[in-house]
Amino acid sequence: MALSFENRVVVVTGAGNGLGRSHALLFGSLGANVVVNDLGGSGAGEGSDASVADGVVAEIKASGGDAVANPDSVTDGDKIIQCALDNFGRVDVVINNAGILRDKSFHKMTDEDWDLVYQVHLQGAFKVSRAAFPHMRDQGYGRFVMTTSAAGIYGNFGQANYSACKLALHGLSQTIAVEGRSKGIHSNTIAPIAASRMMGTVMSEDAMALLKPECVSPLVAWLSHESCESTGDLFEVGAGWMSRLRWQRSQGAYFNPAGFSVDEVADAWDNVNDFDNPVYPDSIGYTFKSLQANPHLAD
Ligand code: NAI
Repeated sequence: MALSFENRVVVVTGAGNGLGRSHALLFGSLGANVVVNDLGGSGAGEGSDASVADGVVAEIKASGGDAVANPDSVTDGDKIIQCALDNFGRVDVVINNAGILRDKSFHKMTDEDWDLVYQVHLQGAFKVSRAAFPHMRDQGYGRFVMTTSAAGIYGNFGQANYSACKLALHGLSQTIAVEGRSKGIHSNTIAPIAASRMMGTVMSEDAMALLKPECVSPLVAWLSHESCESTGDLFEVGAGWMSRLRWQRSQGAYFNPAGFSVDEVADAWDNVNDFDNPVYPDSIGYTFKSLQANPHLAD
């Protein structure tokens, strides 16, 4: 069985280069109507160039697919979704991929570095997703893929602005997953590694050769397909490898909520940090269950 996106409308942001271009080409080859969004600015978020999105649309059409170019910034998310509606009449899938880098060590980071990275990554994904969500609710179907980063999951030197926004995208995805579940709307997050102009600033040429964007796009397409049941999940992916990440929690320690001392915390510290018998919480309800299991509450 070949998975198809016939009659589906897929919006890919930042689809003029790197990962987004690869995603858009794959969706185009699988029969989707693709909105190729790209502002066409520099890797640091300066300037614009409408021909960047046009070039990818030409590639999709040359291979027999159907696509339309959109040169708006993701901060104007409603215009991007309107473009999908005007050209194809619906929106089924949103791939939030557009991104920039303005790396600086934390003590040197300016308000502008912070604000611009926030606007493109987090505010942009919010604007595009919020504009699409009501249409998905009405049609009882939708798929989102957010693009986070290992820098967001683990932290990375010089990327305070980027890592903060990237991990926030997973928070956004998890809540969209909760709110969308009853409406047939799924949302998942990927943390890709791929050679691109963005990674060219931090990786050697040899390492870049191993990391094709085309090794990330099949996961993005699968998560976007109606037959994929995953939602609220997070995946690392690159160079022909993919793996799901989840929270792991130690059994922890319980104290008397009526009052306890810092010495009791110090004495229990090994238990708080003991992962020998972990649990895997997957909802806010799980946290409340753990609080309620405090044996001191029965005192
Ligand atoms: P890239 O720089 O090749 O492509 C990003 C695209 O986003 C560019 O074409 C750019 O014009 C577009 N863009 C930037 N600001 C925009 C805006 N305001 N509105 C619309 N489009 C805009 O970068 P790459 O590597 O393909 O990155 C894609 C995504 O993957 C980004 O979100 C990035 O943070 C993320 N990522 C990439 C990794 C990698 O290894 N390449 C690692 C982890 C995350």
